[in-house]
Amino acid sequence: MWDFFTTVRHRHSVRKYQQDMAIEAEKLHAILEMACAAPSAGDLQAYQIFVVQNSADRAALGHAAQDQDFLAEAPVCLVFCADPPRSASAFGERGAQLYALQDATIAAAYAQLAVVAAGMGSIWIGQFDEVQVRRVLALDPELTPIALLGLGYPAELPEPSARRRLDDIVSFR
Ligand SMILES: Cc1cc2nc3c(=O)[nH]c(=O)nc-3n(C[C@H](O)[C@H](O)[C@H](O)COP(=O)(O)O)c2cc1C
Repeated sequence: MWDFFTTVRHRHSVRKYQQDMAIEAEKLHAILEMACAAPSAGDLQAYQIFVVQNSADRAALGHAAQDQDFLAEAPVCLVFCADPPRSASAFGERGAQLYALQDATIAAAYAQLAVVAAGMGSIWIGQFDEVQVRRVLALDPELTPIALLGLGYPAELPEPSARRRLDDIVSFR
C-alpha cells in the first residue's frame, strides 16, 4: 500500500481504460467508503453519490459530457451531487450556496485518491450538460450534479501534467 504522498503523486487523469477488467465490488465499496470519510460542514455530508455501471447510461453520460466518450469506456461512473437543502437545514444560504458544493467536491477528491490507492485511475468530468445528466439519472430536483468521475483500470500511463510554481500560489503572511 502506498503512503499518502506517493498516492497523490500517482494520481493523473486517465482517459483510456481496460475494457476487459471490471472493478471488483469490494474495491468499489472501499472507494465509496473513503469518499464518505471526507470532512463535511457540520458532518452533514450534504451530497449523494450515484454509481452508474449500466453501459447505456454511461454512454448517455458521455454524451451529456459534450461527447467525452472516454467516460463511457470507464466501467464505472460515479456521479457526485450536492444536496443544498441538507446543508441549508443547519447553515441556511451559506450551506445551500457553498458548503453543499464543498462537501460534494471534497468527497469526489477523496474518491479520486482512493481509486489510485486501489490500483486504478479516474477522470473528473466537470464539463457536462446539467439538464441531460439530470435526465439520465432521473435526479431529484433538489440535487445538483457537480462532478462525473469515470474510473477503472488504466489502459494508458499519462504523463504528469505541469503545476504552477508554489511561490506563484502560496503567500506567507
Ligand atoms: C473541476 C474539474 C473539472 C474537470 N473537467 C474535465 C472535463 O470535463 N474533461 C476532462 O477531460 N478533464 C477534466 N478535468 C480534469 C483536468 O483536466 C485535469 O485534472 C488537469 O488537467 C490536471 O491533470 P491531472 O489530473 O492529470 O493532474 C477536470 C478537473 C476538475 C478538477
